[in-house]
Amino acid sequence: MGTTRNFRVWRGDADGGDLHDFQVEVNEGEVVLDIIHRLQATQTPDLACRWNCKAGKCGSCSMEINGMPRLSCMTRMSTFTADETVTITPLRTFPVIRDLVTDVSYNYLKARETPAFAPPAELAPGEYRMRQVDVERSQEFRKCIECFLCQNTCHVIRDHDENKPPFSGPRYFIRAAELDMHPLDSRSDRKEYAQASMGLGLCNITKCCTEVCPEHIKITDNAIIPMKERVVDRRFDPLVWLGRKIFRRDQLAETGPDPLIGTLPPPEAADGEPSPQRARRGPQAPAIDADGHMAITELTFENQGAGSPFGDDVRFPLPPDEINYHHPVRGETGRTPPEAIADAVRDEPHP
Ligand code: SF4
Ligand code: SF4
Ligand code: FES
Repeated sequence: MGTTRNFRVWRGDADGGDLHDFQVEVNEGEVVLDIIHRLQATQTPDLACRWNCKAGKCGSCSMEINGMPRLSCMTRMSTFTADETVTITPLRTFPVIRDLVTDVSYNYLKARETPAFAPPAELAPGEYRMRQVDVERSQEFRKCIECFLCQNTCHVIRDHDENKPPFSGPRYFIRAAELDMHPLDSRSDRKEYAQASMGLGLCNITKCCTEVCPEHIKITDNAIIPMKERVVDRRFDPLVWLGRKIFRRDQLAETGPDPLIGTLPPPEAADGEPSPQRARRGPQAPAIDADGHMAITELTFENQGAGSPFGDDVRFPLPPDEINYHHPVRGETGRTPPEAIADAVRDEPHP
């Protein structure tokens, strides 16, 4: 015999919405997705929610539960006390389509922008051979189920749509790291590309993405930080430094892209107007002082600059009475309409 528990569920669409209160039966062993299904079966047949596997493997059922980004099919009701109100809201970083369903197409655009695996030209599929140790190194990143909880949590784009065009996000940083350590990938500039064109420099290592990953991928420690370190190693490689002193800028341009800046479009178009690509570029090399030194805090501070989007002192799940949920709506100040983001992302130069 189940017990009746209190739920608050956000209902609305791109034009706005609010939290609705429900009382729903909960049985032993159930997860939050079971409760949403019971709500649909008994009280709100038109409640929109995305799910597929109910086994934590398809990545579809991502939402925010008591303020914490989670998979609803893997969040047991036993996590909450019997008298606790459970508040269920859509992912905040992506535009709402309806109720708990958001438009995550930003992630697919970023996936398309990420340069694909580039095997050696002389090998055909089926002829690839890798040592087991190399397979195991990248296996952690292959566990990603594309739930986009990490993307949703990252403060660089959470409530900052203006950062979406230059920033690919943690899910695609682990893709870059995986290909960077792939012995058969013939591109040797994965980390430099991540820094120059995927917005790696906008990440300030807050580790929020790692905290919410349901596959327990060490996104920050095993992908982002090693890539940042190696990009900086290259920057301060004595031979590279010497090359900079010896060659003029135009000669350096002939030797290939700068490892931090990448290949830039010309700063000005022929008519003298600033190049739109150049104007839109977000990530830049870290600031370097007059002696050519970069602040070591760029790499060493665990939680420097802007902190967690939830605040450093926040522990999850949040008490329900502290959740005052308001999903950003189209046209709201500072919030770019999703079509504009999609257009801007599509206009970015491809590798
Ligand atoms: S470490 Fe923080 S800033 Fe960097 S990708 Fe993860 S959530 Fe975003
Ligand atoms: S890295 Fe983790 S949190 Fe991010 S999309 Fe993959 S499984 Fe989800
Ligand atoms: S329904 Fe597939 S991960 Fe939750």
